[in-house]
Amino acid sequence: MAMVTNEWMTVQAAAEHLGVSADTIRRWEKKGLIRAKRGKHGERLFEQPELRRVAEQGQNSSGVWKQLKAEQGTVSLIELFCGAGGLALGLHNAGLESKLLVDFDKDAIQTLQSNRPEWNSVKASVTEIDLHEYEGKVDVMAGGFPCQAFSYAGKQLGFEDTRGTLFYDFARLVSQVKPKMVLAENVKGLLSHDGGKTLETILNILDEMGYEASYKLMRSQFLDVPQKRERLIIMATRKELGLKHLFPEEKRYTVSLRAAIQDAPPSDGQEYSESKKTIMSLVPPGGYWRDLPDDLQKQYMGGSYFLGGGKTGMARRLSWDEPSLTLTCNPAQKQTERCHPEETRPLSVREYARIQCFPDDWEFSGSTSSKYKQIGNAVPVNLGYHVGLAVRTVLGNPASKADLPAELVSGTKWVPTHQND
Ligand SMILES: C[S@@+](CC[C@H](N)C(=O)[O-])C[C@H]1O[C@@H](n2cnc3c(N)ncnc32)[C@H](O)[C@@H]1O
Repeated sequence: MAMVTNEWMTVQAAAEHLGVSADTIRRWEKKGLIRAKRGKHGERLFEQPELRRVAEQGQNSSGVWKQLKAEQGTVSLIELFCGAGGLALGLHNAGLESKLLVDFDKDAIQTLQSNRPEWNSVKASVTEIDLHEYEGKVDVMAGGFPCQAFSYAGKQLGFEDTRGTLFYDFARLVSQVKPKMVLAENVKGLLSHDGGKTLETILNILDEMGYEASYKLMRSQFLDVPQKRERLIIMATRKELGLKHLFPEEKRYTVSLRAAIQDAPPSDGQEYSESKKTIMSLVPPGGYWRDLPDDLQKQYMGGSYFLGGGKTGMARRLSWDEPSLTLTCNPAQKQTERCHPEETRPLSVREYARIQCFPDDWEFSGSTSSKYKQIGNAVPVNLGYHVGLAVRTVLGNPASKADLPAELVSGTKWVPTHQND
C-alpha cells in the first residue's frame, strides 16, 4: 500500500502523487535526477518538494552550453588546492579577482600559468606555505581540501587536534589571512564521512575561529553544467559581519550532453583495447553492462557479476539527451567508463573539458592522462560561476551585469555542537 510519512513518500506514493508510474520514479532516481533517502527497511523515500521540481525539470533539457560571465567586481580571492582552475575560472567569470592560487601539482600549475599568466599561480604544498603577508587584504579564501578522517580518541576536536591533516593547514592559513569569507568545496561524501563527524569537526573549528557557517549540496546538472556532479559547498563568514549566507537556486532545466559536445574541437584522448572495443560496441547509447549478451556480462564483470547491486557505471555508454554522468579522472577505467554516445571510444580530452565547462582555448599541460586527471578533479566552471555570484551578493558587491544570475537561497546553517556539551 502507498505510504506517506510526513513529507517523505514511498516510490508508490510518489508515483500516485505525480501521476507517473513507479518505474518512472525509479528511473529518475537511478539517473541521478532525484534524491532519495533509505527508510528503516532499506526502502527508497522521496520528499514532496523535490518530486514536484523533478517533475518539471526531468522533462526539460533545453539549456545551452556556454561560458557564463559577469562584470568585474571588487571581491578578492585566494584559492588553495586550485588544481587546473575549474573553481578559479568560475569565480573569475563571476567577477572575483584572484590574488593567489596554490597547488602542488606541476601540470595543474603549468596549465594555470600558460592560460592566465596574469594570475599569481604558485606550485607549493599547502603544508609548507605562510600567508601572513595577506592578512586583512583578501576577501575570500577558497579551497577543496581532500576529505580525510580525524582521529578522535573519544573527544571533541579543537583546531590543534587536527594537526597532520590538510584541513589543519587550510584552517592555519585562514587564521593567518583572516578573510571575510571561507569558501570550501568538497565531495558529497563529506556529509556522511565518519558518520558525519568529519564535517561536524570542520564546522565546529570554523566556529571556534570566529566564523559562522552554512553548507549546501549543489547539483551541477541544474546549474548550467551538462553533468550530474554533486559538490558540497561550505560558506563561512566572520561572525562580527553578521552576513546572511546565500547559495544559487537550481534552475528548471538541464543541459544535455549533445548540447555540450556535438561540436567539440578535435582532440587527443585515450583509446580502448581491441577486446574492450568489441564489448563496448554492443552497448547502446545510455546503456551499460546489463545490455550485453549474458555470456559477455559474466566475462566482463568477472566476480562482480554475482555480487548484486546496479553498478550502472560499468561498461557505460553515455546518452546524448541527458547530462553526462559524473566525470572521473580516467574515462576508460573499468568501474567508471564514460564511452562516447555513438563512437566506440572514451570521451576525448576536449569533450571532457566541455562537460566541465572549460572554454575550448583552455589548454591543459602534461600527458593525456594528466589532462584527464586535471579536468576530472575540477569543480565545473559554471558551478563556480553561480557560487561566485552568490559570494558577491553575500559580501555586498552583487553583479549588476551577469549572464543568467540564479535566484539565491539559504543553505543549512550550522549550529555548533561544542556549545551544547
Ligand atoms: C579536487 S582537486 C581541486 C580542483 C580545483 N578546485 C578545480 O576546480 O579545478 C584537489 C587538488 O588538491 C591538490 N593538493 C592535494 N594536496 C595538496 C597539498 N598538500 N598542497 C597543495 N595542493 C594539494 C591536488 O594536486 C589537486 O589538484
